[in-house]
Amino acid sequence: MKTAIRYYSKFGHSAQMAEVVGEVAGVKPESVSTPLTDEVDILFIGAGVFLGKVNGSIRDFARTLDPKKVKKVVLFGSSAIIDSPVPQMRKTFEELGFNVAAESFNCRGAMGPVHSGHPDANDLQALRDFAKQILIKKS
Ligand SMILES: Cc1cc2nc3c(=O)[nH]c(=O)nc-3n(C[C@H](O)[C@H](O)[C@H](O)COP(=O)(O)O)c2cc1C
Repeated sequence: MKTAIRYYSKFGHSAQMAEVVGEVAGVKPESVSTPLTDEVDILFIGAGVFLGKVNGSIRDFARTLDPKKVKKVVLFGSSAIIDSPVPQMRKTFEELGFNVAAESFNCRGAMGPVHSGHPDANDLQALRDFAKQILIKKS
């Protein structure tokens, strides 16, 4: 099974989360500035939120992909105020015709003193467990 991981990370949180997914999947995570040309079974995509929005580079990256070459998109993210960045990313990928997994991962991400320290060790462990579940199901 082929897996790829891409993220956009303004403050380093999604990058840190992507590393955890990468450890589980045995794949090096890359930012969305790294093109994906191979066909993949699972593409993990992660991002946070800034001023209420997921960065537009996630959509720009999605537009470079062929939905026929990505069997399933799995979303993860973090945020301090809104519930989750996942619905915004889901909308982006679904509108472009991707198969987006119903399962996703979300946790708190610090905004100064608000949810300070997140994602923390527990968040990252929960993400590790989530990634394992996704990859076990698929293999
Ligand atoms: C300056 C700043 C602005 C933020 N704005 C928002 C926001 O508008 N809504 C929200 O839910 N979270 C907000 N956050 C929380 C981030 O989404 C959270 O830290 C997330 O983990 C960042 O992920 P990233 O570092 O991968 O970009 C903000 C954080 C900072 C530091």
